[in-house]
Amino acid sequence: MAMIVITGAEQGLGLELTRLYAEEGHHVVAGCLNPNTPAIRALGEQHEQISIFALDVTRDGSVAAFADRFDGKVVDVLINNAGVHFRKWSVPERVSFEDWETTLRVNTLGPARVSFALRTSLALAGTSKLVTISSDWGSVSNHPGTAYDYCSSKAAVNSLMRGLAMNWSSQGVCVLMVHPGWMRTTMGGSDAPMLAGEAAFKVKSTIENATAADNGRYLNTDGENMPW
Ligand SMILES: NC(=O)c1ccc[n+]([C@@H]2O[C@H](COP(=O)([O-])OP(=O)(O)OC[C@H]3O[C@@H](n4cnc5c(N)ncnc54)[C@H](OP(=O)(O)O)[C@@H]3O)[C@@H](O)[C@H]2O)c1
Repeated sequence: MAMIVITGAEQGLGLELTRLYAEEGHHVVAGCLNPNTPAIRALGEQHEQISIFALDVTRDGSVAAFADRFDGKVVDVLINNAGVHFRKWSVPERVSFEDWETTLRVNTLGPARVSFALRTSLALAGTSKLVTISSDWGSVSNHPGTAYDYCSSKAAVNSLMRGLAMNWSSQGVCVLMVHPGWMRTTMGGSDAPMLAGEAAFKVKSTIENATAADNGRYLNTDGENMPW
């Protein structure tokens, strides 16, 4: 059974990925900003192979304490899922720079912090997968013309992951950036066509289907390349 680490696991896509991997018997470490959230607590009570730990991806100390638990241990799959998307303004130029900074801290620097902290454990696996949940709004060429904060954070995390794909493949780490589709979550809203559970199933299949030849790809859950 594999060791799977998922950030932002207390709701939405992260919670559903945690459920799917645990149902298959994998050991899932669920990193949660609020580890006492009832949904993840209830899931943890159903599956003893789920370990729930506090993790704020924006804080060095929190990430270091989280990573200490993996000292000398293998991580087979890391899923950088935690994310924020503030959308207070209908006029995009009225974006709050404070919210923009927070968005970059969570969506861009968060995956950097967590990935760097778990690098040794990913390398120990021999073959491992470093997955970042990106977005179609991270595409520069297909920019939607809104949400400058969120779009720039996902474009930047794609850039980071391309760099890691170049540098870490020699250690057996396959780096993927996955657009999960529009999901009915707190972030995606109630108009979204897809339940988080359905998206989680597709994201998990995408991860499982990936081989070393897919290292560095930015793809959707149909396995198609997303435009940079
Ligand atoms: N929803 C969509 O349609 C959509 C589309 C494309 C891409 N995505 C991406 O998919 C991923 C999951 O989105 P979702 O829809 O499941 O969102 P969600 O329901 O809002 O869940 C986001 C998760 O991230 C956690 N989080 C926020 N800040 C954090 C921090 N500083 N440290 C650790 N965890 C933190 C949240 O914790 P709390 O619950 O405690 O706030 C929550 O568990 C995100 O990366 C998002 O950008 C979503």
